[in-house]
Amino acid sequence: VILEGIVTTLDEDAAVRVTPMGPTVEEDFQRLIFRPFKTSRTFRNLKRTGQGVFHVTDDVELIAHAAVDQLTTLPRLVAAQLVDGFILADACRWYAFRVESVQDESPRATISCRVVESATEREFFGFNRAKHAVVEAAILATRVQIMDVRELRDELRRLAPLVQKTGGPAERRAFAFLKDFMLSDAADSAQG
Ligand SMILES: Cc1cc2nc3c(=O)[nH]c(=O)nc-3n(C[C@H](O)[C@H](O)[C@H](O)COP(=O)(O)O)c2cc1C
Repeated sequence: VILEGIVTTLDEDAAVRVTPMGPTVEEDFQRLIFRPFKTSRTFRNLKRTGQGVFHVTDDVELIAHAAVDQLTTLPRLVAAQLVDGFILADACRWYAFRVESVQDESPRATISCRVVESATEREFFGFNRAKHAVVEAAILATRVQIMDVRELRDELRRLAPLVQKTGGPAERRAFAFLKDFMLSDAADSAQG
């Protein structure tokens, strides 16, 4: 099963990179299998450093901004003990891991990792359709270049009522941010 969350890795200049990713996990959470596109900086970081921290969070506003690499403020970070990496202090759970193998023959690599340290910091909020809609919109935002504008608008029209009916201010802000990002990007590509 895939678990959507946020991975932190270290860039070459030691800056912390915060990226949404959905690894495959097993019930005991001892292993994480990431499938990053080789074009992503997270792929390059995992391959170069061989370590990182995966987080489970209900903060969809952070997921939205991290997906398009537009964090407004860097989240609170705590250094991990057993890996050279950083924990998002406000996440619900985290898993510090080491890379065991990298298969990168295809455009989407398979990176198999072993969890070496983990903790639960706080409870997960729970199911909420607005939060899910923001996660879907964040995934769309990362695919905006390869999507048809009409398809994009249809998807946004389908997701918008979920955010309006069941979300709070954070979900509404995150959705509006992603919508603006996608529609201005779509407009740019149409002109270019
Ligand atoms: C919920 C969610 C899950 C994602 N899962 C993956 C994934 O498994 N593999 C991947 O390559 N990109 C995934 N993405 C897209 C990346 O987050 C996105 O392409 C990002 O811009 C890559 O950033 P980077 O270049 O900083 O690593 C996901 C995005 C979201 C919102």
